[in-house]
Amino acid sequence: MAEKRLHPRSATARRTAGITLDHAAPVYDWLAPLMTLGSEHRLHRRVVARLALDRPAAVLDVGCGTGTLTRQIYDALPADAPRRVCGVDAAEAMIAVARKKAGDRPGLAFDAALAEELPYSDASFDRALSTFFFHHLNFDLKIKALAEIWRALRPGGQAAILDVDVPYTRFGALCAWSGYWLFHQAEIAENIRGKLRAALDASPWRGHWNIASRHSGYLSLFMLVKPQENKP
Ligand SMILES: C[S@@+](CC[C@H](N)C(=O)[O-])C[C@H]1O[C@@H](n2cnc3c(N)ncnc32)[C@H](O)[C@@H]1O
Repeated sequence: MAEKRLHPRSATARRTAGITLDHAAPVYDWLAPLMTLGSEHRLHRRVVARLALDRPAAVLDVGCGTGTLTRQIYDALPADAPRRVCGVDAAEAMIAVARKKAGDRPGLAFDAALAEELPYSDASFDRALSTFFFHHLNFDLKIKALAEIWRALRPGGQAAILDVDVPYTRFGALCAWSGYWLFHQAEIAENIRGKLRAALDASPWRGHWNIASRHSGYLSLFMLVKPQENKP
């Protein structure tokens, strides 16, 4: 029997088994701070700080949603050099909101595309990031998206991933499992059970990632470093 989806999905979103959010695009910027109990901006700042953007860099934001953090990344880069920042999301409605919010920022682009089939050349970015995205993918897609990030980053490039992970406090476990019960999203339960870590180990990133910091009792900031070509 064909799977029933409650919400309409754009043509790009229909091409993935990821949980896409076309329907949420008009309200996402109101809801996201509520769902992170007001810590969204603080967490985003952590990611920006980790990516060390004080030098010119081409940056890719995977599962960028309405592009709030993508824009901040752009603004954090040195203004006296050309900037290239790309946000990608499968939900065309999210990309439409992100483009509207982008304003006049040359070099900031948003593309409706799949994380598991990134529309960029090999080694074309210095940095990549993704926030609150991997709990929208099943295990197989997690591995594919991670492999695509590896491919799109140049050797020596770095990626930051902030997402739901194994809870480390009781309150964190309550928050994480509440998210699962509320959205009935198996992919959230997978992250809580450590499947994002397992996906990293099943991807080209095996041996090249660590958990840089933990937040809110159930989130982890993963840092991934692609080795230089002469260092496997
Ligand atoms: C919770 S939002 C996160 C947005 C943003 N990164 C943030 O921190 O607010 C997750 C996003 O992943 C997108 N998504 C789901 N599956 C995807 C896929 N296979 N490829 C690209 N984007 C996808 C959804 O459409 C949604 O906008």
